[in-house]
Parts: sequence; C-alpha cells; structure tokens
Amino acid sequence: MKNLSQWSSNIGFILASAGSAIGLGAVWKFPYMAGTYGGGAFLLIFIIFTLLVGLPLLLSEFVLGRYGRTYSTNIFKKVSGKSSFNLIGWLGNLTVFVLFSFYSVIGGWIILYIIRTLLDSFGLTQSHDYGHVFNDYISNPLYSLASQFAFILFTVIIVSKGVEKGIEKASKVMMPLLFISFVIIIIRSVTLDGAVEGIQYFLQPKISDLSSEGILYALGQSFFALSLGTCGMMTYASYLNRKTNIVKSANAIVWMNIAVSIAAGLAIFPAIFAFGLEPNQGPGLLFIVLPQVFDQMFVGQLFYLLFLILFLFAAITSSISLLELNISNITKNNNDNRKKWSYIIGGLVFVFGIPSALSNGLLQNFTFGVGTFFDNMDYLVANVLMPIGALGVTIFVGHIFNKETIMKELNMSDTKKGRIFVNVWYFLVKFVLPIIIIAVFIGQLL
Ligand code: PHE
Repeated sequence: MKNLSQWSSNIGFILASAGSAIGLGAVWKFPYMAGTYGGGAFLLIFIIFTLLVGLPLLLSEFVLGRYGRTYSTNIFKKVSGKSSFNLIGWLGNLTVFVLFSFYSVIGGWIILYIIRTLLDSFGLTQSHDYGHVFNDYISNPLYSLASQFAFILFTVIIVSKGVEKGIEKASKVMMPLLFISFVIIIIRSVTLDGAVEGIQYFLQPKISDLSSEGILYALGQSFFALSLGTCGMMTYASYLNRKTNIVKSANAIVWMNIAVSIAAGLAIFPAIFAFGLEPNQGPGLLFIVLPQVFDQMFVGQLFYLLFLILFLFAAITSSISLLELNISNITKNNNDNRKKWSYIIGGLVFVFGIPSALSNGLLQNFTFGVGTFFDNMDYLVANVLMPIGALGVTIFVGHIFNKETIMKELNMSDTKKGRIFVNVWYFLVKFVLPIIIIAVFIGQLL
C-alpha cells in the first residue's frame, strides 16, 4: 500500500484549500444570493457568519484533519474511539456527491460560455442579448448535458492523477490572476453611468431588507463558500505535515474568500444598476450581466475569454476537492485504485446530475419543494446537509475531542495573544456555534 498523500509544501496546502473554497460559491452564488436576499444587508450578515461561524469551523476541520491523518469516514473513530461519530464523515460524503452533481451543471455553463466567446471573436455568433443567449444555452438539453459531462471529466482526469501532482501547481498562477481580472472588471463596472446606485445597494446595508430566510441563506452561503460541513477541508488537512501553521492558513483562506465575494459583488452590482437590470434574477445573474460589462470594454471579448478561463479554473479547483473527498474514503487513501474509482464516481455523479442539468429546460416544470430538481439539490446541500455536518463537527471538536490534544495541535500557547485566540475559538466552537446553527434552523421553521 502506498503512503498517504502529502502536500509538497505549506503554500501548496494553502493554495489547494483556498482553491477548494474559492469557486462558484464566491463568484457565482454569492452575487445572486445577495441580489435576492437584501444586497448590502446580506453582505454584512454573510461576513459576520463567515468570521464568527465559518472561521472557527474551518479551524476545527483543520485541527481534526491534521491530528487524525486519515480519511473522513474513519477519522472520528480514530480520534475518539467511538465509531458512531463516523456518521459525520459519511454524511459529508453524501453531501459532496450531491453537491458535485449540480455544481457540474454550472461548471458546464462556463464551458459553454468559453466556446461561445471563442466563436464570437471569430464573428460566428451575433446576438448580444445575453438574457436570451443564456436561456437558449441552459434550456438546451444537449448543451447542458455535454458541458456538464465535460466539466466532470476534467475533474476526474485531475483527481485520478493524485493530489500532489494534480492540484498544487496551477493554483499558484491562476488564483492571483483571477483576482487581478476582477479588479479590471470592477474598474469598468463602477465607472459605468449610473453605477453609484449599485455600489450603494451592495455596500450600504439596510437591515430592514433582511428576512429570516435571508439569514439562513447567508449561513448556508458561508458554509458553501468555505467548503465547510462536508469534511472536505478536514481531508485536505489530513495530508498536512505538523509544521504548518493552521491558524494562519485558516485566516488567510477566510479573508481571501471574503475578498473574492466582495470583488464579485463589486463587479456585478454597479453594472446591474447601470444597465437597468434587476438584481434578483437568480442563478443566471453573473452569466447575463458580466458579458454586457465586457461589451463595454476595450478588447472586451479577449478579456472575457481570459476571465472565463480563470473562472473555470476556480470552479475546477473546487470540484476537485469534492471528488477527492469521495475518492479518499473509497480508496481508504490507498492510491493504487484511485484512477478506477475516480472514473466510477465521476460517472455516477453525472448520472445523478442529469435531472439537475435538465432543470432549466426539459424538466423546467417538474417542480416540488423549493423549485426545480436543481433548486432542491442546492437547497438541500447548503441549507440542510452542510449545516448538519457543521453541527456534527463543532459538537465533536467542542465536546468529544480532547481539549489538551487540540491545544497542542494548535501550538499557539507560547504567546499571550495566541492563548487568547485559541481560548476564544474553543469557547465559540463549544458553545456559540452549535447554538447559532440550531437557532438559524429553528428560525427558518417558524
Ligand atoms: N467552496 C466551494 C465553492 O464555493 C464549493 C465546495 C463546497 C467545495 C464543499 C468543496 C466542499 O465553490
């Protein structure tokens, strides 16, 4: 049996975890959530949840992952001796499986847009009415399925080659580039006529705009965007060596994630108002608004293409972590069978994802619960499964995992600041987080 995979460097781990976190959640989902659930007020509550709940949870997954050094359906037993807690790991596997099945639909949209933009730059497409373009694409069953398939295949190919080779290298270049490309879009977006209103909408919180639904979605969004509640981050941390400072890493990832979310909002909202569009358009928001911004730019098509490629990359570094979680558990970290299982799970994800891919076309009228099949999967993951998984992790770390072991693992006790930090963190994990997660749940039911 081959050894457990290892990151080749500290920065490799941070980049891979940031790559897992930053993806469709921050770039695609956050803006349309904010556009539907209260603009600036949503941003504010999202930031509060990310710092108060997300950061402590991320650190919990890191501590447990690095200490336990094994796959997530085994780690809870290994650490506590009680096998029933492994259920948290099993639940996480279910969550990422469902998540990948609809994540890949959106990933596919990016691929379609890349093809379209390429054709466009050769003068082969005409319509710049992006609302229609978008609908034509996503309602076309062949396009949807083929692009979803392609997205899954890319992910499978990378994961089948193994963590250390597959993930690290490209992140070093692509992630900073993605951020830079956002800066360029923001500059164009905020200088459009009539952009000010959008900036206000996004940056001036009006608390009255916030609903209890919006609060639940903001919590779900903070989990989704940080890859929490699935044991995915735990899995990445299990490939770590003891030298890495996980507190610093967690902080860095959280702030990068907030920065990208804000950047996405700043790129989109000013433009929405400048073009006289509605912010509450749902999942198509980014795909309808951004191309119009690029149309207003010098060599806009070229920039758009570049942006889409970076965006696709960000989505793939996240989907890699989704698939990786299933694979690490099925192979029990034995790399010999990694390739075979990557293809098998990828195939199953595709099959299970078919109704999601068709939710905007053929199955548009097949609605139940909160909407289409796609909507329901999204809701189930972000607002039910992830919070339950997160609750499991906080209870485990706060009440089952030995406190001294945790403190040793964190290795922060030599400075006063460090001691205060870990104690506040521990208090949050033990008492505050479970209460917040349960309260938001109950609030939603009322
Ligand atoms: N955080 C990822 C994103 O925002 C999604 C994800 C969730 C990835 C859970 C892994 C685990 O795109």
